[in-house]
Amino acid sequence: MRKIYIFDTTLRDGEQSPGVNLNTREKVEIAHQLEKLGVDRMEAGFPAASPGDLAAVNAVARAVKNASVIGLSRSREGDIDAVREALKGAADPCLHVFLATSPIHRKYKLKMEKHQVLEAAQSAIRYAKKYFSKIEFSLEDAGRTEPDFRAEMVAMAVREGAYVVNIPDTVGYLNPAEYGAIFKHLKETVPDIEKVQLSAHCHDDLGMATANTLAAILNGADQIEGTINGIGERAGNTAIEEIALALETRADYFGAKTGLTLNEIARTSRLVSKLTGMNVPGNKAIVGANAFAHESGIHQDGMLKEKTTYEIMSPETVGFKESKLVLGKHSGRHAFREQLLEMGYALEDAQLNEAFAKFKELADKKKEITDDDLLALLEERLPDAPELYGLESLSFSFATEAAPTATVKISVAGEDSRTAESGGNGTVDSIYNAIDSAVGEEVTLVDYSIQAVTLGKDALGEVHVTLRQGEAEVRGRGVSTDVLEASARAYVDALNRLAENRRVPSGRKGAEKDW
Ligand code: KIV
Ligand code: ZN
Repeated sequence: MRKIYIFDTTLRDGEQSPGVNLNTREKVEIAHQLEKLGVDRMEAGFPAASPGDLAAVNAVARAVKNASVIGLSRSREGDIDAVREALKGAADPCLHVFLATSPIHRKYKLKMEKHQVLEAAQSAIRYAKKYFSKIEFSLEDAGRTEPDFRAEMVAMAVREGAYVVNIPDTVGYLNPAEYGAIFKHLKETVPDIEKVQLSAHCHDDLGMATANTLAAILNGADQIEGTINGIGERAGNTAIEEIALALETRADYFGAKTGLTLNEIARTSRLVSKLTGMNVPGNKAIVGANAFAHESGIHQDGMLKEKTTYEIMSPETVGFKESKLVLGKHSGRHAFREQLLEMGYALEDAQLNEAFAKFKELADKKKEITDDDLLALLEERLPDAPELYGLESLSFSFATEAAPTATVKISVAGEDSRTAESGGNGTVDSIYNAIDSAVGEEVTLVDYSIQAVTLGKDALGEVHVTLRQGEAEVRGRGVSTDVLEASARAYVDALNRLAENRRVPSGRKGAEKDW
């Protein structure tokens, strides 16, 4: 079995999903989980894009011990220096430097001729070689690059001593036969190609990212790049869990394997979904809520007789377990800690105290608490600094024949408290109008979604909102047994993220204004 290296870019390309803004603590939490999952390499961000991103990459670099940590850079010395700074303290640092190579990008974006692109990339790699022993070079939009020029660029990167050469289908344009053929062509024509690892990096614009990545593997790719849940720019990146399970389930066909701990997939997927605010669709392969559900009578009958009739892999393989009743109102701190340990969470004392207080609050409202409830509590936002706004109290009135109103009390910077009352088109609208007038921020609600964490009338409700302010777009999440309170919490959470963003600009979207 050939080993396929997994390069996770959830924290970089994944974070480029519209509205996703991870702060440093959230990036570190995801990075720890990616380590448990067993990814070989993880791209933590784009340090030159903002001071916040540089600090977040540095925090990940210092925290991760069992995977190579990578920083992205344009083919510019300043960007490379920012990655050097960001990767200080990393156990196994790697620079990822890229330059676009396709005719469209050369003509319109770079305004460079082929020889200028080649020279710019070459001098970037040469400069980087002084500081990094591991360099990945990416030919951005390699998929739409002329075959001869693509091979010439790859040959240059091999000569200059790159460790990995990445062939991205940046715009998700190719089909599996075409993408696979590129790897075959490079393997056959580029001198000394065996000195580098070839990497596949696909986007899902036409829904072919997984198929294209698998085609690359069949044609000799050593590394694949992707994200958890397939999040990423536009339609997203290759979903790592799909590649891992394709290789596992069809080992007979692919003859290749990853080093991933497969039963960490469900937990990783859930954590990424919670912290990014990007819900996983029910029918998403491998990690969707319905991925292992059997609805039709014929299928259920088959499953009862023999699981393999309709199941090609088991939910346990990826770490799905039935949500169990675990604790109740009378459970003590010891039982709570034990339960968290069993679920894979070893909290420090301060965190445990905070989580236990939240658990007690929930237990007052909800009789039986399941492991999914606990996860929802644990995965609440982890601010980098004390939050600007806090929801102190909320009340509202609603009657079918009268206009709704809401009153909120919001604490500001832990000192001042502001109360405001407002009406609106519905109760949620009234609450949001009241919060707006209490905090005096100009924001637009771009998206609102609600879902139940578990089954039952007393299930926790989880609300996600997206707010826009100027060019910044952030998501917020709120969890409560009351969906209106969850709605208010999600809104306040998003306002706090906007405030955090103003304090330390971490969002890099649009920060890197040119190539
Ligand atoms: O899709 C792409 O081309 C990228 C590069 C920066 C590798 O993400
Ligand atoms: Zn990409």
